[in-house]
Amino acid sequence: MRLFTAFRTAPLLAACVVAKANYPAIPEDTTTPVQQRLAIYGPDSISIGWNTYAQLDESCVEYGTSTDNLDQRICASVASTTYPTSRTYENVVILTGLTAGTTYYYKIVSTNSTVDHFVSPRTPGDETPFNINAVIDLGVYGEDGFTIQGDKTKKDTIPTIDPALNHTTIGRLANTVDDYEFVIHPGDFAYADDWFLSLDNLLDGENAYQAILENFYTQLAPISGRKPYMASPGNHEAACEELPYTTGLCPDGQKNFTDFMHRFGQTMPSGFASVSTNDSAKVLANQATELAQPPFWYSFEYGMAHIVMINTETDFEDAPDGQGGSAHLNGGPFGTANQQLDFLKADLASVDREVTPWVIVAGHRPWYTSGTACMPCQEAFEDLLYTYGVDLGVFGHEHNAERFLPVYNSVADANGMNDPKAPMYIVAGGAGNIEGLSSISSQLDFSEFANDEDYTYSTIRFLNRTHLQVDFIGSVTGEVLDSSTLYKRHDVRFVRQ
Ligand SMILES: *[C@@H]1O[C@H](CO)[C@@H](O)[C@H](O)[C@H]1NC(C)=O
Ligand SMILES: *[C@@H]1O[C@H](CO)[C@@H](O)[C@H](O)[C@H]1NC(C)=O
Ligand SMILES: *[C@@H]1O[C@H](CO)[C@@H](O)[C@H](O)[C@H]1NC(C)=O
Ligand SMILES: *[C@@H]1O[C@H](CO)[C@@H](O)[C@H](O)[C@H]1NC(C)=O
Ligand SMILES: *[C@@H]1O[C@H](CO)[C@@H](O)[C@H](O)[C@H]1NC(C)=O
Repeated sequence: MRLFTAFRTAPLLAACVVAKANYPAIPEDTTTPVQQRLAIYGPDSISIGWNTYAQLDESCVEYGTSTDNLDQRICASVASTTYPTSRTYENVVILTGLTAGTTYYYKIVSTNSTVDHFVSPRTPGDETPFNINAVIDLGVYGEDGFTIQGDKTKKDTIPTIDPALNHTTIGRLANTVDDYEFVIHPGDFAYADDWFLSLDNLLDGENAYQAILENFYTQLAPISGRKPYMASPGNHEAACEELPYTTGLCPDGQKNFTDFMHRFGQTMPSGFASVSTNDSAKVLANQATELAQPPFWYSFEYGMAHIVMINTETDFEDAPDGQGGSAHLNGGPFGTANQQLDFLKADLASVDREVTPWVIVAGHRPWYTSGTACMPCQEAFEDLLYTYGVDLGVFGHEHNAERFLPVYNSVADANGMNDPKAPMYIVAGGAGNIEGLSSISSQLDFSEFANDEDYTYSTIRFLNRTHLQVDFIGSVTGEVLDSSTLYKRHDVRFVRQ
C-alpha cells in the first residue's frame, strides 16, 4: 500500500539533517545467529535460515528430539551469501527425514547460540485439526517504524520480544504461540523502503534501508525461529517504491526484490510430490514443482491443507510491479513468459481432495477490497481459482481487515457459506506498519466484515474436512473481532468447474 504522496516531491528538503541510521549493535561474536527463519520445505522437511555478521565457512545446525541430546548435525552445501549494501550473510540448512508432528530441538552452530525448538510438519492427509495465522503488511517497530501505546501485559513464552517496542501483532503472535502451527505472510515485511519517512535517514538511505531490514527481521526472529513462516512478495519488497523521482537515491540492495530473494530464496519450498493414487495428479504435481519459483510462487501441503503462495507483483500481464507495470517499479521477471500461471494451473489441477480437502491461495494484492482492487491480478488469477475450486483466497495490501462472501466475477455465490462453488476471500492487511491503517469508506455488496480501527491479523482454523473457521483477531487485545465458518462438502476428488 502506498501513502504519503506529498513526500515524493520534497525528499531532499532536509539537507541540514545529520545522517544517522539506526542499526542494531553488531554482536561481539560475529558468528551469533540473528534473523532466524524456519519454513516448511517438504512433507518431512524444515529449512532453517539465519544471518550472521561474519561470513561462515560452514553453516551447520545440530538437532534432535530431546533438548539435551542434539544427536544429528547437518551443514549447508553452499557457503553463506550476501549482496552489495548488506552487512550480514545469509545461511541456510535443510533438515530432512523428520518424523511428522514431532517437537525437535535445534541449535545453530556458533560460539554464541542457544537451543530453540519447532514442531515438524504434519503429513499431507493427516486430518488432525490445526490453526494457522495470516499476517500481512507488518512493518518494523521502533525508531524507524511503527510504535503504538498500549498492551503492557506481555507474557511472552518467547523470551526476546522487547516490550519497550510495544509490538502489537508480533507480541500477540508470541503470547499465543501454542495456538497456531505456522504463519503465512504474503508480502510487505519490513517496510524498509519507507526509510525516507524518517528525516534523519534522508542523507543515508542505503544504511537506513539495511538498518530497517536488520531491525525488523531481528524483531520477527522469536516467531519465525519457532514457527514456520511462509513468505511471498509484496510491493514493499520490490524496489524504491516511494521514491520514483529520486531513483538515484535508491540503494542497490533495494532494487528488484534483492533482499527478499536472498533472504527467502533458499528457504521456501517449490512444491510437494503428490501422494495421490492418481497418476495424472502425480504428473501435474511434478510439473508444478518444476514451474515453481520460490520465494515468488510455490505450494506446500500440511495436514488437510494444500496452500499456494502466488506473486501479485510481477510475472503476469500488466503485473503492477513488473516491467512497465502501473507501479513503475520495473521488477522481475522471475520466470519465463506465463511460467507463474502455468505453475498455478498445474498445481491446482493436481490437488486430490481426498488427501488435502482444503485449498488456499495467498497473495499480496487483492481484487476484492473496498480499497484499490488489482484488476490485472483478477484478470490473471480469478478464473483459475474458481475453476479448480479454491476454498479461500487470502490477501493484504490494503491496511485493514475485510471478509467477503464466496464470490466469482464480483457476483456472490448463491450458496453463500454453505458449500459454495466460488472461493471465499479475505483481506488481512491490518498487522500494523509505519503507513498506518487504510480507512474504509464504502463496502462492497458482498462484504461481511470490515474493520479499519484495530491492528489485526487472521487465524484460519482447519476444523475437519468440511468446516473451516476464519477469525480476525485484534492484535492489541486478542479479541476475536469476527468469526465465520465455511462449509464445503468436498465430495469431488478433482474439482473442475
Ligand atoms: C550472544 O548472543 C546474544 C543473543 O543473541 C547477544 O545478545 C550477545 O550480544 C551475544 N554475545 C556476544 C559476545 O556476541
Ligand atoms: C510504549 O508504550 C509506553 C506506554 O504506553 C510508552 O511510554 C512508550 O513510550 C512506548 N514505547 C515506544 C517505543 O513507543
Ligand atoms: C486423476 O486426476 C486427473 C487430474 O488431476 C483428473 O482429471 C482425473 O479425473 C482423475 N482420475 C480419477 C479416476 O479420479
Ligand atoms: C530481476 O531479477 C531477476 C532474477 O535475478 C532477473 O531475471 C531480472 O532480469 C531482474 N530484473 C531487472 C529489471 O533487473
Ligand atoms: C466438523 O466440524 C464442525 C464444526 O465444529 C462440526 O459441526 C461437524 O460435525 C464436524 N464434522 C465431522 C464429520 O466431524
